[in-house]
Amino acid sequence: MKDKIPFNKPPYTGLEDEYVLEAIRGDKISGDGPYGKRCQEWFQNKLGVSKTLLTPSCTAALEMAAILVDIQPGDEVIMPSFTFVSTANAFVLRGAKIVFVDVRPDTMNIDERKIEAAITYKTKAIVPVHYAGVGCEMDCIMDIAERHDLYVIEDAAQGMMSTYKGQALGAIGHLGAFSFHETKNYTSGGEGGLLIVNDKQFLERAEVIREKGTNRSQFFRGMVDKYQWVDVGSSYLPSELQAAYLCAQLQNAEKINAARLKAWDKYFSELRDLEASGLIQLPTLSEGCKHNAHMFYLKVANLEERSAL
Ligand SMILES: Cc1ncc(COP(=O)(O)O)c(C=O)c1O
Repeated sequence: MKDKIPFNKPPYTGLEDEYVLEAIRGDKISGDGPYGKRCQEWFQNKLGVSKTLLTPSCTAALEMAAILVDIQPGDEVIMPSFTFVSTANAFVLRGAKIVFVDVRPDTMNIDERKIEAAITYKTKAIVPVHYAGVGCEMDCIMDIAERHDLYVIEDAAQGMMSTYKGQALGAIGHLGAFSFHETKNYTSGGEGGLLIVNDKQFLERAEVIREKGTNRSQFFRGMVDKYQWVDVGSSYLPSELQAAYLCAQLQNAEKINAARLKAWDKYFSELRDLEASGLIQLPTLSEGCKHNAHMFYLKVANLEERSAL
């Protein structure tokens, strides 16, 4: 049998071993240690945002977002019908009704022209998903949200290092969520995520929710003399070992993405003839978007063709 092409290969730079070992030998292996802080600062600089919080997964970051925008049973949340389960689960856990909107056949992102028809008096938030790291039509989505007083939570699980009109994905909505699962461009040792807090009203509460509903972050900053339970929350803080692994990857972020883009461009140019002959459809890149080569997909006419392929 011929060699199989793997679905994905987790990125590995060689620096991870050293950093994880250093974290193990340090005196703090729980969350928010030196590596955790280094990663968060890296993201803040790179994405041009003021607050980022590492989380154990993108799923956890989306769950935090659902708590932050105060989803109540019966609230409606709009999202694309084509996405990963976590986008919906995070809001279903808080009792929301999910209103699915079709995707555009070109980018496979939510069809922004169909969002307004899905809004009711119960709608609380829109969750655009940047499929394959290609940005949704964010100008239009932000405009709709502003006119209807809705929150926008970007599911940017696949979108690290992608931009929309020069702005980083995840930095445009009120909140943004990223994944560092092993299938993503960067991983924090297999699982991991990041919450971006763009709307200042959520800054303090985001830290509390991540620390099991306590004001422990304030305690570490010397703002209170003991920490206590002040709100709902959960265990949304990843360990220092995960952060150390991620740190090694971020140090090589440009290199990792350049290699992905090179592979993506090669697939794209080599498969163009098949597209010209009508056999397959290649990915569409929207204007104004810089993508991160997160995924290369192709579309065929139907399930039968796909299975045969
Ligand atoms: C669009 C989308 N949202 C959420 C997630 C969940 O990410 P995680 O595995 O980090 O929880 C994924 C993971 O593949 C994803 O693709």
